[in-house]
Amino acid sequence: SHEEFSTSIRSTAGHRSKPNTSIPLVGPVSWWGGVQMGPPDPILGVSEAFKKDTNPKKMNLGVGAYRDDMGKPFVLSCVRKAEAIITTKQMDKEYLGIGGLGEFSKSCAQLALGADNEVMKSGRYITVQTISGTGSLRIGANFLARFHGGPRDVYLPKPSWGNHTPIFRDAGMELKAYKYYDPSTCGFDFKGALDDISKIPEHSVIMLHACAHNPTGVDPKPEQWKEISDIVKKRNLLVFFDMAYQGFASGDIDRDAWAVRYFIEQGHNILLSQSFAKNMGLYGERVGGFTVVCNDAEEAKRVESQLKILIRPIYSNPPMNGARIAATILNTPDLRSLWLEEVHGMANRIIKMREQLAAGLIKEGSSKNWQHVIDQIGMFCFTGLKPEQVERLTKEFSVYMTKDGRISMAGVTSGNVGYLAHGIHAVTK
Ligand code: LMR
Repeated sequence: SHEEFSTSIRSTAGHRSKPNTSIPLVGPVSWWGGVQMGPPDPILGVSEAFKKDTNPKKMNLGVGAYRDDMGKPFVLSCVRKAEAIITTKQMDKEYLGIGGLGEFSKSCAQLALGADNEVMKSGRYITVQTISGTGSLRIGANFLARFHGGPRDVYLPKPSWGNHTPIFRDAGMELKAYKYYDPSTCGFDFKGALDDISKIPEHSVIMLHACAHNPTGVDPKPEQWKEISDIVKKRNLLVFFDMAYQGFASGDIDRDAWAVRYFIEQGHNILLSQSFAKNMGLYGERVGGFTVVCNDAEEAKRVESQLKILIRPIYSNPPMNGARIAATILNTPDLRSLWLEEVHGMANRIIKMREQLAAGLIKEGSSKNWQHVIDQIGMFCFTGLKPEQVERLTKEFSVYMTKDGRISMAGVTSGNVGYLAHGIHAVTK
């Protein structure tokens, strides 16, 4: 089923289809006669279908967006308070620099690396503010396409976030994969991953999900990360960390950054994408960061100059509102501690829903093993549902989710978890 999922993503390239050559040369001509209808986005298309459904019981478990226990979008109190502070300051709306708001970029890097990290102290890094995680990955992909001297190949875990493939492909990179998920255990395929990584050609790029792997909810344990770091070092691979869910795996920001910090300690000069969509609930504000860890501060300056040259013709400079909010939260001690509590709260509600869903399935009389619903971490549960079962769940129960069987646990509430268990049992018995 994962294969089908990624094929459907690959085939979205309507723009690569041959132009329609049968356009008449005289008479009314359509400029776009050769444009073929493309498929909806595998993740965001689910939300579009959900909106059209009139069933009052409908559930959107497609996109990873946190909901409160009433199923409503959740704006964090620390965000509301930061907004109030920003409003009283009556700040101007001049352009930000190409690399974004300086105080945001610094605190963004600090959050990932830790304030006392040697990299922060020596200044051998550059962080630019980006259009959330997707924009960060795309700037990273463009940077690789222009400056990485090694092979074009980017190795993604199998499976990976649906948008990784088009982001890197559209930037001119090639996509490869390494084993990651073991469907027979619904867990991490540690041996498979090590085997595959040990065969990756030197200097290729490897994508690692820092925590709360999307879509599987399965992360390596610290001991396993250590072995991965060793083998990546032996193969001389360039590490690209995607950290979109810092705080959502364990509820603790620092614990979730462990792998990133460990790899840096081990001498990997990583690339890092960060998003504040989930952990600050700033989805539509589009706030994130892209970091390059360099050999020294002078190299970082040169990299920065080229990142600016890359960004300027794409969107000139990033929007300021979300960055102001995030920077205010990160740099105001009261708001920062409130934020950490709220992150913890969101992560805990999801854990509760995992337990209730598993219990609900047993109550429905399911004889299947649903332990992975509890064991997997972060926002997503990789249920193991087959595409036909997903289709039935959507058609018969108005439960919307991605075809690969992923559900966003953040959309499950005390009010609808029983209905979801009922539906899943009905299509899996
Ligand atoms: C997801 O995987 O649902 C999120 O990362 C949102 C997105 O942009 O796809």
